[in-house]
Amino acid sequence: MFSTFVIPSLLFSLARASPMLLSRTVFDPPVTSPNSSTVWTVGETVTATWDTSSLPPANEIPNTFGELTLGFDPAGTDSENPILSLASGFLLSAGNVSFVVPSVETRNDYLVILFGDSGNTSPTFTIEGTD
Ligand SMILES: *[C@@H]1O[C@H](CO)[C@@H](O)[C@H](O)[C@H]1NC(C)=O
Ligand SMILES: *[C@@H]1O[C@H](CO)[C@@H](O)[C@H](O)[C@H]1NC(C)=O
Repeated sequence: MFSTFVIPSLLFSLARASPMLLSRTVFDPPVTSPNSSTVWTVGETVTATWDTSSLPPANEIPNTFGELTLGFDPAGTDSENPILSLASGFLLSAGNVSFVVPSVETRNDYLVILFGDSGNTSPTFTIEGTD
């Protein structure tokens, strides 16, 4: 008697659950700032932002903490050359993190890499350094 009701409802639950499981496996929110028009100055407090609209709800993200790494991409090399960590231990679902720009040399090909469960890289931008 009960099985005719239990089985369809179980199949219905599985069909509903699988798209959620798929969307959980990879999320890499696009970095919106810094971007190609950004200029940071060493010692300045800045805010990096990213678009959280592609993220699953915060309570479904297995790794809720992010890490933001500074790198650089010499023209045409399509590389990341990670140098140092700018911020870590922040909630990826917050969509932003603020920090003081560390002491680095002037370059116009810096980028940031935002790690969720996969990385996402900003366009290249400028930091006015101490040199
Ligand atoms: C680009 O970055 C700047 C900060 O450097 C920010 O004010 C601006 O909103 C960003 N542009 C976009 C399209 O998000
Ligand atoms: C930055 O994140 C905080 C939560 O940590 C949020 O309240 C605030 O609105 C965010 N600001 C921007 C500019 O996204």
